[in-house]
Amino acid sequence: MPIHADIVVLPGDGIGTEIVAATLPVLETVARRHGHTFAFHEHDIGGIAIDRHGVPLPAATLQAAQKADAVLLGAVGGPKWSDPNAKVRPEQGLLAIRKGLGLFANLRPVRPHPAALGASPIKSELLEGVDIVVVRELTGGIYFGDKTRSDSDATDLCRYTVAEVERVVRSAAQLARQRRGHLTSVDKANVLETSRLWRDVTNRVMREEFPDVTLEHQLVDSMAMHLLSKPRAYDVIVTENMFGDILTDEASMLAGSLGLLASASLGTGKVGIYEPIHGSAPDIAGKGIANPYATILSAAMLLRHSLGLEAEAAAVEAAVSAALDAKVFTADLAAPGKAVTTTQAAQTVIERLA
Ligand code: IPM
Ligand code: MN
Repeated sequence: MPIHADIVVLPGDGIGTEIVAATLPVLETVARRHGHTFAFHEHDIGGIAIDRHGVPLPAATLQAAQKADAVLLGAVGGPKWSDPNAKVRPEQGLLAIRKGLGLFANLRPVRPHPAALGASPIKSELLEGVDIVVVRELTGGIYFGDKTRSDSDATDLCRYTVAEVERVVRSAAQLARQRRGHLTSVDKANVLETSRLWRDVTNRVMREEFPDVTLEHQLVDSMAMHLLSKPRAYDVIVTENMFGDILTDEASMLAGSLGLLASASLGTGKVGIYEPIHGSAPDIAGKGIANPYATILSAAMLLRHSLGLEAEAAAVEAAVSAALDAKVFTADLAAPGKAVTTTQAAQTVIERLA
């Protein structure tokens, strides 16, 4: 059944504009092949929004996102707006839109592709068959607690409510149930009170509602090690906001490049934000060499989670997989002298789709 979808497009800063520009034709190709109509509505977020509107999340951007079926986002931030004493920062725009849309569950799949195993610093035999989804809590914790700053000290408050832990653990457990039935909850319960609450709530939710899903707890420091030493042992990992931020950059090394990891930020409604987990990469911005695959794979998650187009999502994922099989690599993955541009990589995906 052909559908119509309104997609808010937020390229943001740095390579964000390039990877989003490369991804839209992929979505257009999907629409054309299946008779869907996708309307793209572009808005500002991050540093570009500070420059144009004085704020990192203009009201028009948030309102458009609230009305949309889905949001495709590139990246925010850059040296131009990185003065440590600046009152407004691009990153605040990203945090505010996640919070404003109530997107508390951030899904970050980690599935190393056979053709990219050589790019990982981890031994290939440890990587074969690795298939993990990290569910990162996205609208609570130390990211959103009160902050203070004086000449002599600074504080960041980390707070979690029972309800915040319950809902993200439920999302993760439902996902684990559809997969291999194994959930690893990561905390620092030997030190942090918020982690002890996290662990208690997780134990109760899992006992009462998901007795069929195996639950394991890991402390975040040893998890950081196990993720590299035995990544095949994990199925779904659920954790709080900051631990999830750190562990997923680490996990990207299993896949060989930060440029391969997609994400979906979901709440209770249909709208979600779909963005690569990498940042705006100011060092390579404007050169047309950034890896677009993470954004294209995020667009696939958009098709699946917000638009309910599972076959189309799978087709995009298969096309990226085919491009990787053919070793069509941007500079982050390519052997010296073999790199393609952002546009060429995206074009290859489009050809494989057609
Ligand atoms: C991410 C990013 C953001 C985060 C930054 C840009 C605020 O690192 O999406 O992982 O820390 O959540
Ligand atoms: Mn991050």
